[in-house]
Amino acid sequence: MTEPSLLFEKREAVAWLTLNRPRSLNAINMAMRDELWDAALALRDDPDVRVAVFKGAGDRAFSAGADITEFGTAPSYVESRRARHQRDLWGLILSLEVPLIAAIHGYALGAGIELAMCCDLRIASEDTSLGLPEVGLGYIPSAGGTQTLPRHVPPGIAMQMVLTGDPIDAVTALRCGLVQRVVPRDRLYEEAEALARTLMSRPPLALRLAKRAVLDGLEMPLADALALERRLAQRALAGQGGI
Ligand code: COA
Repeated sequence: MTEPSLLFEKREAVAWLTLNRPRSLNAINMAMRDELWDAALALRDDPDVRVAVFKGAGDRAFSAGADITEFGTAPSYVESRRARHQRDLWGLILSLEVPLIAAIHGYALGAGIELAMCCDLRIASEDTSLGLPEVGLGYIPSAGGTQTLPRHVPPGIAMQMVLTGDPIDAVTALRCGLVQRVVPRDRLYEEAEALARTLMSRPPLALRLAKRAVLDGLEMPLADALALERRLAQRALAGQGGI
């Protein structure tokens, strides 16, 4: 039996999603993409999940990006175009109400770092190397990276990473705000769990509404964003669901 390329485990109210192709440094292939899609739908629809944590299996990587062995092969090119048109995986993950944490170690490249950037909080271990190598391959980041990166870091840093493709280390990522914490490798999941527990100790509706206020507000002129904040604050006060 083939191993699933994504493990989905619910422990109490935390969903742990493990990218599970360690021999390929958790490269994201079509099968993993499909499994990520199903998992994102589960996160959207399961009210018992209060926080989700993404992580990578094995010692070496969160994910080394899109599976380059699928590049340029005719059937998979057609397949991947079809999949992209029908399923906006990254848009779906960005639209999730539940708070998302990325626990990153080793390589976080291309679609790997892009997945992490769809999360709300990023914890990295000291050995993490984060980069967008696509331009060097004659391509551009297309799991949202050209847009999400400059929303996390200053535009000059984003431009440097996109144009050179050179990775940055964990400490640099911390300094420019791409990750919120750097921890020793052997404490990564402990710290991710502690952060998940902190979030779970907050009222779930307030957490989800606050997440929407920040994310949706970023896309709006300030006056509209403040109006959005007022509406969401009223819902939080009224304790209403249905954002
Ligand atoms: N897609 C498919 N397979 C990948 C992969 C990817 N993105 N990244 C790594 N792998 C595979 C390698 O082919 C290798 O498989 P093998 O053991 O069957 O030969 C295995 O993972 C280990 O990688 P390897 O290259 O041997 O490790 P390394 O330590 O020498 O180098 C990297 C690590 C991350 C620098 C290197 O693997 C790399 O550059 N990967 C591609 C990264 C990339 O361009 N990602 C973005 C794609 S848009």
